[in-house]
Amino acid sequence: MSSSASQEKPKGKTPKPLQFKLDKHKIDLKEEQIFLDELNNETPIDPRKPILEAKNLKKVYQSGGGDLVILENLSLELKPGRSLAILGASGSGKSTLLHLLGGLDKPSGGQVLSRGRDIARLSEPILARWRAREVGFVFQYHYLLPEFEALENVAMPALLAGFSPKEAQDLAWPLLERVGLAQRRDHRPGALSGGERQRVALARALVLSPKILLADEPTGNLDAQNANLVNDLIGELVEEKKMSAVVVTHNIELARKMGDRRELAKGRLWPGQER
Ligand SMILES: Nc1ncnc2c1ncn2[C@@H]1O[C@H](COP(=O)(O)OP(=O)(O)O)[C@@H](O)[C@H]1O
Ligand SMILES: [Mg+2]
Repeated sequence: MSSSASQEKPKGKTPKPLQFKLDKHKIDLKEEQIFLDELNNETPIDPRKPILEAKNLKKVYQSGGGDLVILENLSLELKPGRSLAILGASGSGKSTLLHLLGGLDKPSGGQVLSRGRDIARLSEPILARWRAREVGFVFQYHYLLPEFEALENVAMPALLAGFSPKEAQDLAWPLLERVGLAQRRDHRPGALSGGERQRVALARALVLSPKILLADEPTGNLDAQNANLVNDLIGELVEEKKMSAVVVTHNIELARKMGDRRELAKGRLWPGQER
């Protein structure tokens, strides 16, 4: 339509009323504000309701050879303070599931709910806020920033969340001590062993006191002795901090430290084999 045409007054018939097409995939703004207020005020979680819930999750990747269905009809409920280990063969979709639970990726179908809200429908800034305040991630690789010292790495999420350097350091220090690395506060990741790096990464994940810990093979890169140390720390910290946790692991010792175990296979979770 040319600009002159758009300025012509409609003759004869009434113009069509304007339609504001609200994106049905986005959560209502008011609802989103309530969610944000809950996060900011740290509104206590109802202990009877799941803190994290997956409902009929589906994840499909497109590939040259057709659709690749990784997760289908997967449901799970994590109540506050409960922990779950997820076992499963390589390629069964464990990382995919953890990414969906942490809002790092969006499902092809179904929902991930936190505080009863579908996190896929949150706007990106609010989702980022939820992740920063409520979820701690630990991956197989530490992802520490090489040019920063151990204490700075632990403090980083607090700095990014708007705490002053002093406040961020005050939050980080007791955690670095807790993971046994007080002596290493000014060491950069390059000067730390694999096990030490992973302990720094664990401390960093906890610096904003997340209610949910999501860990993806956190000891997968470590030798047995260091894996044991990190396993013990994860088990103890989940309990001490009363966190809810979903831990993907091949390590039976770590799986045993979680309250519950499930096996991911054929796109779904199955009762874990008691070993
Ligand atoms: N971004 C992607 N695009 C296409 N396929 C993917 C993608 N990410 C993962 N996959 C495939 O999905 C399957 C599950 O991967 P993943 O969740 O990493 O498994 P696990 O963590 O259990 O080893 C694998 O076959 C993998 O190749
Ligand atoms: Mg994986």
